[in-house]
Amino acid sequence: MNDSAQIHPCASLSGVVRVPGDKSISHRLAMLAALATGRSRIRGFLCSEDCVNTVKALQTMGAGAVFDGTTLIIDGIDGPWRQPVQPLDVGNSGTGMRLLAGLLAGQPLVTELTGDASLCSRPMGRIKEPLERMGAGVELLGKDGCAPIRISGGRLHGIDYALPVASAQVKSCVLLAALFADGRTTLNEPLPTRDHTERLFHILGLPLTMEGTRLSLQGFGPTGPALPARDWMVPGDFSSAAFWLAAAAAMPGARVTIRDVGLNPRRTALLDVLKRMGADITVTPADQLLSSDPCGEVAVTGGKLRGTRVGGAEIPNLIDELPIAAVAGALADGITEIRDARELRVKESDRIACVATNLKALGIAVTEYDDGLVIQGGSPIRGGVSLSSYGDHRIAMAMAILALFADSPVTITPVACVDTSYPGFWNHLEELGGHVDLHHCH
Ligand code: S3P
Repeated sequence: MNDSAQIHPCASLSGVVRVPGDKSISHRLAMLAALATGRSRIRGFLCSEDCVNTVKALQTMGAGAVFDGTTLIIDGIDGPWRQPVQPLDVGNSGTGMRLLAGLLAGQPLVTELTGDASLCSRPMGRIKEPLERMGAGVELLGKDGCAPIRISGGRLHGIDYALPVASAQVKSCVLLAALFADGRTTLNEPLPTRDHTERLFHILGLPLTMEGTRLSLQGFGPTGPALPARDWMVPGDFSSAAFWLAAAAAMPGARVTIRDVGLNPRRTALLDVLKRMGADITVTPADQLLSSDPCGEVAVTGGKLRGTRVGGAEIPNLIDELPIAAVAGALADGITEIRDARELRVKESDRIACVATNLKALGIAVTEYDDGLVIQGGSPIRGGVSLSSYGDHRIAMAMAILALFADSPVTITPVACVDTSYPGFWNHLEELGGHVDLHHCH
């Protein structure tokens, strides 16, 4: 297991990268393939810890799953779902836990979902409420409304529900449960969030209607829908590409191209932010959708960035990119303000506090707000320090990028968490011209 990384300053990054498959889409496809009758092949599946844990949970419920490189072959659960004898452990994955909870709510089983310390400190009341309204029993066995979760599933009925938070995980949890409900489920989102579930439902011919932020699905009752197995392709994860895009944008002389990356507009708000900051970015969409989402190539030429403001409806469309957006802000001239991002406090770590602490350790002036950060960018990045990732993959990677710009090496501990979303990150860093010493600890 890689425990710490020492990142060396780097004058220039250049090259072409294909990032691993999209994490959100991989989770959803594994689940939908497990619901289908027969064998599905998912090419470009993200073989990271998060997604593998979801696949293991589906296997426990009766799905067949075999990895062939980055192709996941799934045999759908044929007949009633198996009653697990032990809690299903989804590790670090909020998507795994919340979406599986939706599926399990519709099965006549009592199941427990658990995860690591980070996941068991994240709020689960947000899924308990709608699932209970639909008729499931949901007990939160952890402290303060957190996992482990015990779900007593069974007969569900449709609900009309206004989501209290802009969360694609909660929306998707309810949509998956709604497949097994009697009657119609209608959801209203406070702001548009990533729509991978909706896109996949449409491809599968599921009766989902959408009008602005209002979604409505006619349920199929306890047996659920009859879904045919099929083959899928997962595009590269824009959230993984984001680290290279921001790094290259802020580095004069850099030139980085990301190929075959997902370009769903509800995921790519970081491109708008970087462009506002003055980044030189060219997007070349591919002719075809890759399964469900637009994809293509993004090329960035480095230059000097200027500060910007990030907030409002943009936030859900770059929620996972905010740590790296903060890094771009630290590298830009002037002030960058990130607000309306309170949700960052309940991600894999409290990303507002963790980013603020790390930026300060590197000599950057930051003010922390309840819902965001104000960063005074453009000052020298003082290396020679050791930072914590707080066990959060995106904090580890965002800080690794910032470390490239420091005046001396920076150590980040622990870094094994990077594998939850981006196995191969350190190799890609080296391929692009960076230099990292990984220290192993078993
Ligand atoms: C995800 C949605 C987002 C995001 C997470 C993945 C998804 O969470 O932060 O990494 O796959 O639906 P929220 O929907 O809770 O904001």
